[in-house]
Amino acid sequence: MKPVVISVTGAAGNIGYALLPRILNGDVFGADTPVILKLVEIEPAMKALEGVKMELFDCAQGLLHDVVCTSDLEEGFGDADAIFLVGARPRGPGMVRADLLRANGPIFTGQGAAIAKAASKDVKVVVVGNPANTNCLIAQEAAGKHGMGPENFTAMTRLDHNRASAQLAIKAGVTPRQVSNMVIWGNHSPTMVPDTEHATIGCVPAATVIGDEAWLRGDFCKTVSTRGKAIIEARGQSSAKSAAHAAIEHVSDWVRGTPTGSWTSMAIRSDGSYGAPEGIVTSFPVVCSGDGSYSVVTGLECSDWVKEKQAATWAELQSEREAVQDLL
Ligand code: NAD
Ligand code: LMR
Repeated sequence: MKPVVISVTGAAGNIGYALLPRILNGDVFGADTPVILKLVEIEPAMKALEGVKMELFDCAQGLLHDVVCTSDLEEGFGDADAIFLVGARPRGPGMVRADLLRANGPIFTGQGAAIAKAASKDVKVVVVGNPANTNCLIAQEAAGKHGMGPENFTAMTRLDHNRASAQLAIKAGVTPRQVSNMVIWGNHSPTMVPDTEHATIGCVPAATVIGDEAWLRGDFCKTVSTRGKAIIEARGQSSAKSAAHAAIEHVSDWVRGTPTGSWTSMAIRSDGSYGAPEGIVTSFPVVCSGDGSYSVVTGLECSDWVKEKQAATWAELQSEREAVQDLL
């Protein structure tokens, strides 16, 4: 079988270390598809990246076709079928993700342009580096100047979706497999809206199973939306294993399709669905068809409580857009 090309930026970092063996396990394109990895790093990290490359060969995973290490963006994204844009500074204790906007935003102008020039025309890009939604917007705008559409670029809210599903499962005393159709609306930030109003647990509405609306609107939302901070405080470093796992699931669903009857949460360019302002990258409930296309789930009724929170997270994304206007 012809190998797929998968590029990963920040490949010598923490998330990269958890992500690469999963890619070589066939967790994105399937267990029979060989992989050429293109690993992109900044110059100071190239030596560490060589060590990562040695370890990847030493795992002798059956799908490994080749590993390219580079700091040249067009070489790193050349012919890529999927790209994980991870490389960016993480926040430390006491910071909010938006504090990273000016440090990380400029990374995504060059990367967006290089992807449009060098990658496969139907490449699937997930932005993980924070603040992920607005970095994705920056990459979309840069790629657009070289003829690639915004639909190739998405940002990751799957980690928030998974965190929410797990919290529901814990509360209900079931495994996460029983939980379907959570929705994360908006920004990967504390303003995100973890919406359980359409979720089910074992095919029963989550609200009925949980029977505690105050918890769903209170502690549950707070736990999900501040989980990244809690992990930084506990580990001294930001989430890596769960972030890598979520990135794998995000791209795997995009490539192979969301399971029939359910959806995932992905941050994509707003088309105005549900009243979200256009010109921002916001999380929606999304169905992936398995042929590379995806669409927003339509027709969900949102309560006034959700609508109010949606308005706040969308306003935050508009203000992030304003703050990086010079990069767009
Ligand atoms: P890390 O510091 O361990 O690794 C980051 C790597 O990126 C480093 O090796 C660094 O050399 C590299 N890098 C920096 N600038 C680069 C550039 N211009 N091109 C290529 N590589 C570059 O950090 P990490 O823990 O792997 O986290 C990476 C990013 O992911 C951070 O911004 C973090 O906040 C974010 N993150 C997002 C989510 C999410 O849910 N969206 C979850 C966890 C972490
Ligand atoms: C997370 O949610 O774990 C990441 O976005 C890292 C962070 O800064 O919170």
